Parts: sequence; structure tokens; C-alpha cells
Amino acid sequence: MVIDLDSVPRLRLNFLPTPLVELARLGSALGGPRIFMKRDDLTGLGLGGNKTRKLEFLLGDALARSCDCVVTGGAMQSNHCRQTAAACAASGLECHLALGGERPPAPSGTLLLDYLFGAHVHWCGGETKGERIPSIAGELRAIGRRPYVIPFGGSNAVGALGFVAAIAEIERQFLDMNVPARRIVIPSSSGGTHAGMAVGVDLHDMPVEVIGIGIDRDSPGEPPYEEELAGAANAVAALLGTEARYSPADFHMRYGYLGGGYAVVGELEREAIRLVASTEGILLDPVYSGRAMGALIDMIRSGELSRSDPVVFWHTGGIPAIFEHERELGPA
Ligand SMILES: Cc1ncc(COP(=O)(O)O)c(C=O)c1O
Repeated sequence: MVIDLDSVPRLRLNFLPTPLVELARLGSALGGPRIFMKRDDLTGLGLGGNKTRKLEFLLGDALARSCDCVVTGGAMQSNHCRQTAAACAASGLECHLALGGERPPAPSGTLLLDYLFGAHVHWCGGETKGERIPSIAGELRAIGRRPYVIPFGGSNAVGALGFVAAIAEIERQFLDMNVPARRIVIPSSSGGTHAGMAVGVDLHDMPVEVIGIGIDRDSPGEPPYEEELAGAANAVAALLGTEARYSPADFHMRYGYLGGGYAVVGELEREAIRLVASTEGILLDPVYSGRAMGALIDMIRSGELSRSDPVVFWHTGGIPAIFEHERELGPA
């Protein structure tokens, strides 16, 4: 039996639906196609972003299990950690973050917000992908706390449910606004967003292809990222009780946009951020949405995406990180 998403524990943290808007001036600057943007930078809590969709289900689960604190982790400027800290503040849970790097003399950008939201930061040096989450959770258990563990990026089956629900949301907007788009372009990194969307598209039988832009890898890697995505989607399907089974071939990833590396701002991101800001008054972030928009622009210019087929760019947020990149983004 397929489980009704409405019956799954969920904490309402977002302002939904986020707007779906047409970027007519950007579309014309690029000479077509029609470009729509799903504004998940406006999810609302703690300056917004995609991760709060995952956190609605993750923290709903944490509270259903009577947990009293949350442990997660990531890079020093992690959007997932910022949004977790904000969501914990809003729901009365203590937040522990395992962050890569050493404590800087003055926290800035996303990290500054972690502190404002009252998070307890555990500095982890070279461990930037939440490697120390289990040991921090163990220490909390040892003193009688009930930690809820959220993996790196919030990317497990429970978190990905946020993007199954997001697809139902955009399906209604497509119908209401008569949007004929068949492609959705997203930044893809820890996989929960991509996997959740793939299951959602399937459940709703939508003729839509989700194209993931590799943000922190330039090739599938070993084991291939698509295998990870298929595994994540299968875990979501199992949680929901659907018959669907996924294989790596079900996932469209586009690599080749890693440039100088993860979070290194190059000409691709710079041009995309400036173009969208100056034609639409909309900010992108340098790491995820800026890179993915740079990829979208490149795929339009090269003809890989046809100028006659409307496309949706899913803005996943991350904007506070822009203030970490003044030198690369400021006037020349
Ligand atoms: C702003 C932003 N966009 C996209 C992503 C990628 O989402 P996922 O990790 O679910 O692949 C992230 C992940 O950190 C993010 O912070």
C-alpha cells in the first residue's frame, strides 16, 4: 500500500508553495527558451533554501521519536547546517553541528547565522562531510540526551520526502499557470533533492526529466553517483511502499562544471550570478545555484537544451554564502 504523505510526521517550517516565476528578461537575454524559476530561496526560515523541505520531515520524525537534540554536520559554510540550526531554534530542539575547519576569529556568512540560531558548533578540521556526527551523538547519549541524527546534507529517505512533496507542489503550479516545461534543472550534491524529485515525478506520472548538475564532482566517480541516487530513490520508494524500483540509468546527471573545485568561484558562476542579478533582481549563491545556473546558460548556448523547450531552474537557495565571496563577485 502506498503511504499517504499527509500521514507522515511533518513539522511545517516553510512558507509554501514557493513562487514559480517566469524569467522573461533572462530568457530574452539568452535568446530563448522560456525559463521558469522555482523560488526555493524563498522557503522562508533562516534565509531559505532547499534543505528546509527535508527538515520538515526530519524534524517531524525527531519529535515523533521524542528526541531532545539534533546532530548533523557539513562544511563550515553548509546551508544544510544553517537551515537545521534555524529549524531547531524554531522547534525547541538543541542543535549540534560537526563543521569542517577550525573556528575562525570572526564567524561570517552562513556560519554567523549558525551561531545566531544558537547552534553548538563542534570543529572537525579536515572532516568536512559530517564524519564526526556518530561520535558526537554517542557523547550526547552517554550524558542521557536523546539525539536525532541527520546525515550529511539531510539526504536520507525521510529527508527526501520533502522533495516528493515539492513535486506535487510544482505539478499544481504547472497546471494553474499552464507551464508546459518538461525539464527541471537542479544542483545535485548529496542526492536527497534529486532522489526525492525522481520519486515524486514518477508517483505523479509527470512527463518531466530532472537534470542534476554535478556541483562537487566532475564525473560519476566510483561507485558512480547515479548508483547512490538510485539507492536513495529506492529507499524513498520503500518508505512510501511504492512498487517503483530505480536504477542508475533513471538519473540524468550533467558533469563538466566543477571548474576549480567545490565552492571555487570561477567565470561560469560569476557570469551567471551577475546576469541573473542584473536582468531579474534575483540573487544566486556562488556554490550551488550559481554553478547550476552557469551550467544551464552553457547548455542553452551550446544547443544542448533546445531554445524552443521551456525549462525550469529550481533555485535551491544558499544566498548567505554570497557574502563569503566579495572578492570574486565584486566589481572588477
Ligand atoms: C543551496 C544548495 N543547493 C543544492 C544543494 C544540493 O542538494 P542535495 O545535497 O540534496 O543534492 C545543496 C546542498 O548542500 C545546497 O546547499
